[in-house]
Amino acid sequence: MKKLLFQLDTDACPSTFDAVVAHDGGADHLIPLAGVTPESCGPAVEGVIYTRGPAHKKNSALFVGGSDLAEGEALLAAVRRHFHGGFRVSVMLDSNGANTTAAAAVALMLAEYGEGDDTPLAGQSAVVLAGTGPVGQRIAGLLGRAGAAVRLSSRAPGRAKAAAERVAKRFEAPCEPVAVSDKTSLAGALAGSRIAVATGAAGVRLLPEAVWRERGALEVLADPGTTPPSGIEGLEPFDRGEVRHGKRTYGGLAIGSLKLRLHRACIARLFERNDQVLDVEEIYALARTLVA
Ligand SMILES: NC(=O)c1ccc[n+]([C@@H]2O[C@H](COP(=O)([O-])OP(=O)(O)OC[C@H]3O[C@@H](n4cnc5c(N)ncnc54)[C@H](OP(=O)(O)O)[C@@H]3O)[C@@H](O)[C@H]2O)c1
Repeated sequence: MKKLLFQLDTDACPSTFDAVVAHDGGADHLIPLAGVTPESCGPAVEGVIYTRGPAHKKNSALFVGGSDLAEGEALLAAVRRHFHGGFRVSVMLDSNGANTTAAAAVALMLAEYGEGDDTPLAGQSAVVLAGTGPVGQRIAGLLGRAGAAVRLSSRAPGRAKAAAERVAKRFEAPCEPVAVSDKTSLAGALAGSRIAVATGAAGVRLLPEAVWRERGALEVLADPGTTPPSGIEGLEPFDRGEVRHGKRTYGGLAIGSLKLRLHRACIARLFERNDQVLDVEEIYALARTLVA
């Protein structure tokens, strides 16, 4: 029986990136649907859950994507409201690639802590610079879940506050907003942090090397960006735990390489059973097994 993946995309033009990975992850056939909303998804979801019998339902699955994470979260919730009893299929959320990218970045950063410790960062501080975007919010949430006291920065105090509140609510972990607009506020955001991650828009330099190399408390730096210049000066794209000025560093292509493996593994997993929901927690758990 053919493995069918229905790509419910909140954007007007469904992601071609997600389409390629869907096939590479094992879908035999991808059906992209554009501009899907919580209100409009019903017929598409019902067509998938009511067609194949119980033994074959696992060969149909749903992928929720698009560039807006909040829209994706709302769509995932709406999709799940149509499920009942055995009338369900597995579904994955990865709007803007935020879940797979954040899971890959955090799994790499925390790989040295190994299995079995769910809060390896308890008592430690971490800062997510320009964390107001989808990737930054997911990374902030995962670091918070790992026990860190997380600061999330924005150029605008209001955006920092709104994003930190979203993270705290979604992950049930505290998240402190900080505004960063100059060298002084950047120093304040970094103060005492063991981990610093730059999640600004592509090609935006946020952290000069001269600032981070002198900070004794900093141990780990990560930058998922792949478009030059890097968000953190002095990191190389393929850094995967390289030690620079005494700190472990992770670059965008090392994170991106794991993210792609992870995304493909998630697609494959969708077709193993018909009752899985792959959101950031499940995707992060899988990421940890890939780096172990
Ligand atoms: N390696 C991978 O596989 C992979 C996958 C996905 C994404 N990425 C990378 O991950 C990073 C984050 O992605 P994203 O989609 O979450 O980012 P985003 O939403 O495009 O941007 C994140 C934040 O950057 C800040 N920003 C925008 N322009 C800025 C500027 N000129 N100066 C300073 N700050 C600025 C904004 O925060 P404020 O306005 O609140 O300050 C914005 O909310 C990007 O570099 C992206 O390319 C990598």
